[in-house]
Amino acid sequence: MHASQALLLAVAGLAAAQSSTSSAAAGTSSAAGTSGCGTQIDSIISSCLGTTQAQLDACATNDWDCMCEQSNNVLTCYNNCMSDPRRNGVEQQNVSWCNAAKAYVRPQLSNQPEL
Ligand SMILES: *[C@@H]1O[C@H](CO)[C@@H](O)[C@H](O)[C@H]1NC(C)=O
Repeated sequence: MHASQALLLAVAGLAAAQSSTSSAAAGTSSAAGTSGCGTQIDSIISSCLGTTQAQLDACATNDWDCMCEQSNNVLTCYNNCMSDPRRNGVEQQNVSWCNAAKAYVRPQLSNQPEL
């Protein structure tokens, strides 16, 4: 075996060892936490979600104005950790609910005579 081949094998072995330790760390979830930004950020986010998510859940079905506003508030919780994997889904909801709120004119309002 040439020295260069031995070195290559050693590098490959090192890379394998590194990827196995990093995947083990991701699996434990203690270091990065749920958000990926650490357990302290996790608890900030979860206490923020405690109020904002409850308000979002309290919106009447198809009350797009409410859902747009409250999902926007839920998104502010993730300002502490923009890379939180949960953020993306809420952002999609915010966009679609806010679009619906803009598109949908409430019947009571549209039936009001113009002044
Ligand atoms: C939520 O959607 C509205 C309307 O598209 C947008 O103006 C607002 O910036 C969004 N909120 C966030 C935090 O992205």
